[in-house]
Amino acid sequence: MTPPKLERTLSIIKPDATRRNIIGAIIKQLESSGLRLVAQKRLRLSTEQARSFYAVHAERPFYDNLVSFMTSAPVVVQILEGEDAVAKHREVMGATNPAEAKDGTIRATHGLSLEENSVHGSDSLTNAATEIAFFFAATEIFPN
Ligand code: CMP
Repeated sequence: MTPPKLERTLSIIKPDATRRNIIGAIIKQLESSGLRLVAQKRLRLSTEQARSFYAVHAERPFYDNLVSFMTSAPVVVQILEGEDAVAKHREVMGATNPAEAKDGTIRATHGLSLEENSVHGSDSLTNAATEIAFFFAATEIFPN
């Protein structure tokens, strides 16, 4: 039997969640979905980092508010590994707008609004690779 093909995806626990002291509750939901943390750090994004990370949204009307929100408190950035990790992570996060997220998802449980939606996750395998490289060196990733 061929072993399952593992993917990696980037997860961010956002300022609304670090402020409310619910990092552990969110990680529990992530781990319960079968995903495994292989890298993790807590940091405060600079304005330059937040602008660059969300550059794809630079022309959107919510960009400036998004950058101020993401720099307003520490975040936890982490890499999740598993089979179909990108899709599985998006499923456990729920819809971007917490009001539209399915019951039991992280955003339905903890999200406050479209902006303060507690978590970010890569939306494709290609973007996952870019986003992982944005925050982590290969020497900071520790799969079992
Ligand atoms: P995230 O997955 O981090 O990617 C971009 C973020 O922009 C998104 O989650 C939302 O939190 C935020 N955002 C704020 N306003 C909007 C909007 N109108 N449409 C989509 N995303 C928005």
